[in-house]
Formats: sequence, structure tokens, C-alpha cells
Amino acid sequence: MFASDSVAASRAAAVSPTETHFYSRNGNPTVAAFESAVAELEGAEAARAFASGMGAVSAVVLGLCSSGDHIVAQHQLYGGTSMLLASVCPRFGIDVTLVDGTEPGAFAAAVIPGRTTLVMAETPANPCLDIVDLDALGAIKGPYTVVDSTFATPLGQRPLDHGVDLVLHSATKAMAGHNDATIGVVAGDAELIEWLWSFAVLHGANASPADALNALRGLRTLGVRFERQTSTATRLAEVLEQHHGVTSVRYPGLASHPGHELAMSQMRLTGGLLSFDVVGGSDDAVRFIESLRLARIATSLGGPETLVTHPVSTTHQHLDADERARMGLSVSTVRMSVGLEHPDDIVADVLAALG
Ligand SMILES: Cc1ncc(COP(=O)(O)O)c(C=O)c1O
Repeated sequence: MFASDSVAASRAAAVSPTETHFYSRNGNPTVAAFESAVAELEGAEAARAFASGMGAVSAVVLGLCSSGDHIVAQHQLYGGTSMLLASVCPRFGIDVTLVDGTEPGAFAAAVIPGRTTLVMAETPANPCLDIVDLDALGAIKGPYTVVDSTFATPLGQRPLDHGVDLVLHSATKAMAGHNDATIGVVAGDAELIEWLWSFAVLHGANASPADALNALRGLRTLGVRFERQTSTATRLAEVLEQHHGVTSVRYPGLASHPGHELAMSQMRLTGGLLSFDVVGGSDDAVRFIESLRLARIATSLGGPETLVTHPVSTTHQHLDADERARMGLSVSTVRMSVGLEHPDDIVADVLAALG
């Protein structure tokens, strides 16, 4: 609770997007400290934190788009975002066109001048690590452009430097980094964040101070954690690429990744996420996952523990076979989030399970 000295002071505080001592749904000092840290890391004027990554995604979509508007997004998206676009947007009269985010010029070509309000990209994309060209996205004029940069964190890439309007994160993941916070964040120029604030206050998906505190604590070690996860994931990807039990290793740091050159040109660190197909079918992928001893079956990512998922059984189970094929996802795809355990232990665990 924050008390005001006078009614006049409380009246002014009630409508200020930067006020942190009026009411915590509007603004809060601990949440504001997290927002300022993220804005600085992203090179943004301002940021707004949300109750989760999906809180951030839905605030951008519903805060910026109205009935009759059109969104261009990519096939390769986190499952929650793709469900929001497929099931919530039509109910509000918002049309969505999905393109292959890796195809040069695909986003720009799908923009309908005067109708497209938002162009949404995710890079590296969940779960197949597809890379979107940030310069091409930033060059699109007219609609707002937004990048879900969760897999990269602000240390891996800075979309705003490429001319993109907004960058968002599920800070639940590597940014908070300890699997003990659920929080999202959007950063961009002050005017746009102020507009989002006016929607967010009514939307109510504001970040809790306790989560913001954990996320701020996490940001302090993001540098060392993200470098370590990048180096271990690179090593694991190289080992897997040589293994006869695995195909299609997708890691942007590997020269064989179709988006490798682009990733090298726009990313500083390629992060701790990778995906690959286990030889065989769905049962083989499940058997592999359940044979891991160190890596745990869990849907989050970016934290200290190595986590593994079977996307078609979890985050992407709502997609039909065609939609999965369009994003390069198969029944034998496994996604791993490399943690902070000793790299030898992680590699040994994966090799033993493949054996
Ligand atoms: C790329 C991406 N964006 C958004 C989200 C949603 O984040 P949250 O779970 O914090 O709502 C996730 C969750 O896995 C994600 O991977």
C-alpha cells in the first residue's frame, strides 16, 4: 500500500505511467527497477513488466490491435503465442497471416498497407531455433514490429538496434534464470510503452514485485550463466551432430544450421537451447527422454537445470501434422535447454540415453 500526502497528489499519480508509489497494478518500485534494468540492457527508452511472457505477448497483441486489423506472424512460434493468434484473435475480429519467418522478404510481402497493425517475429524460434533476419524486420515501415527474443536474452541480441519497434521476453526463462519467477517484459520507445501501460493497467497482467525481485537477482548473473550455457550447448550440438542415433541437430551456432550466417551477423551469443530428431519415431524420442538421468522432463527453459521436452506432446500438441511440418517439427523432435551442470555430465547423460 502506498499513501499519498494529498488528494491532488493521488489524482496526479493515478494517471502517471511512471508513478511507482500509487497502486501496484499501475506501477511498483521493485517492478520498475526490473523494467529499468531491462530497458538499459535492450537499449530501449522504457520497458513494462507483465505477469508472464504470455502476459507480455497478449498485451502487445490486444493492446495494439483492434477489430478489423491484421497481424503478420511466422509459423515458427512458441505454442502459447500460436494458440493466441489462432484462437483468440479471430474472436476479436483480428486477422492473422502466418509466413515462413526464415524466408527472405516473407514478412514484408504479407503486410497489407493500411490494415496490418503488427508484425510479430520470434527468433531464435521455439522449438526449432529458426532465425529471422532482424534488419529486414526493422526495415518494415507502417505496422509496429515486435520480436520475441526470449531464447536470445538481451545478451544474445538486441532487436531494437535493428530498427524493430518492440522487443519482448518471457523473463521466466534465462533472464530470471532460476526457475523461481513467472514474469514477462516488453521494451521499446517511451511513447509506445506508455500506450501499452494504459492497456496493461486494465488488462491486469502486471508483474508481481516478488517475481520482479527474483528476476532482478537473476539479471545480475545472466552474463556468466548465458556464456556457460552457450558454450555447453555448442559442445553438445557438435557431439550430437556426429552421433548416428540423431538427425537434424538445430543449433544456430552450428555451421550446418540454415540460419547460421544470419545468427552470426546478429547474435553475440547463441544461447543454451537446441533441438534434434532422434532416429526412429515418437516412441524412440520418448524412450530417449525418459532414459536421461540428469536432464529432467520439464517445460521451462533457460534455468540452471538441464531440461528436456517432447514438443509434439506438450507445447506444440495443438498443431496438426501440416502445421508441424511447416515449422520443421516432427514426432521425434526433442528440445533441450542446457543448464549449468558440468558440460561433461550433460554430454555423458545424453550419450548414455542415446545408447
Ligand atoms: C519464446 C517464448 N515466448 C513466450 C513464452 C511464454 O512465457 P511464459 O511461460 O512466461 O508465459 C515462452 C514460454 O515457453 C516462450 O518459449
